[in-house]
Amino acid sequence: MILEIFGERAQTREGVLQVALAHLTYQRSRLVRSWTHLERQRGGAGFLGGPGERQIEADRRVLAGKIDRLKAQLEEVRRTRTLQRAKRSKAPQPVVALVGYTNAGKSTLFNRLTGAEVMSADLLFATLDPTMRKVDLPSGTRVILSDTVGFISDLPTTLVAAFRATLEEVLEADVILHVRDVAHEETDAQRADVLSVLGELGVHDEDGRRVIEVWNKADLLPSADRDVLSSTARTRADDARGTLEDPIPVLASALTGEGLDTLFAEIERLLTAEHRTRSVALPPGEGAALSWLHERTDVVSAETTDDGGVVVTVRLGAKESGQFQERFGYAFATAEEAHRGRKRA
Ligand code: GTP
Repeated sequence: MILEIFGERAQTREGVLQVALAHLTYQRSRLVRSWTHLERQRGGAGFLGGPGERQIEADRRVLAGKIDRLKAQLEEVRRTRTLQRAKRSKAPQPVVALVGYTNAGKSTLFNRLTGAEVMSADLLFATLDPTMRKVDLPSGTRVILSDTVGFISDLPTTLVAAFRATLEEVLEADVILHVRDVAHEETDAQRADVLSVLGELGVHDEDGRRVIEVWNKADLLPSADRDVLSSTARTRADDARGTLEDPIPVLASALTGEGLDTLFAEIERLLTAEHRTRSVALPPGEGAALSWLHERTDVVSAETTDDGGVVVTVRLGAKESGQFQERFGYAFATAEEAHRGRKRA
């Protein structure tokens, strides 16, 4: 059932292959079970063969062949995807990722945020993934907005693993918009589900201040509830840590557009805030890049490398990180990656 839902939702080639693979693996496990069952029914050991068993063996071989072919295809798609992502990570724009329970209003919000009347947007990587777009915030900051599949409760662990790759954008996102249907009677349980799936995917709170909870469908709330939530959101927004557990709340309606100005402002605030520690490897002679970093970011350390280059670790916002990459052409990474990069160079 869940496989079918995902089947319908899977838009990328990778998603489709993963669903097919999960299907076959499931079928194979059923076969093994029915085989053991027959074995038990037959009672004694020593009898080999039998028409039922031969049929099962044949089925298993067919399934195994299909599974191998699918795995090979998936591997190929993943390789291309990794290449594409490497290319994109050189793009200087910060990534804003939408997550949320199924039906929370992610697609509606995505379309709203990329809507021509609000801001300019052009289709990005159209053939690769139809749910990534370049968007200019009203302030002029350009970001990449990325939509993901909707979460469902009781997601089987095997599927969490299968969809990991599709959700990897979230791990790397500079800002996460967790879209919630606050008019839904089970909104709290849905929130808990989404947090637990994100936790399993490895999205953790240590990653810094970057989570906004969009309290969506405000237009459906009775006005008393709406007033309460509206003032709660306003008071909490300033003190919130911006983590999954303690996100920055914004009451909004993707349908009517209410609250979206505040949402833009909060996204902008997160992007500008100095909230992440990142490293960059610079070859010898990049004095201008180095002084740019000293002027505009909080330099934590600068270690010279054997070849006379330097690995600089700084605290900075996604916006500065983007500006730096655009201007000097060097990408930020984790300290470990930066050091590895220097050795290779
Ligand atoms: P999945 O693709 O299942 O993950 O759903 P989604 O999160 O993308 O939700 P989607 O944008 O498809 O919206 C689900 C339904 O909620 C649609 O019927 C929308 O029109 C409706 N909806 C979304 N946002 C709002 C809102 O702010 N107010 C109201 N009244 N309806 C909304």
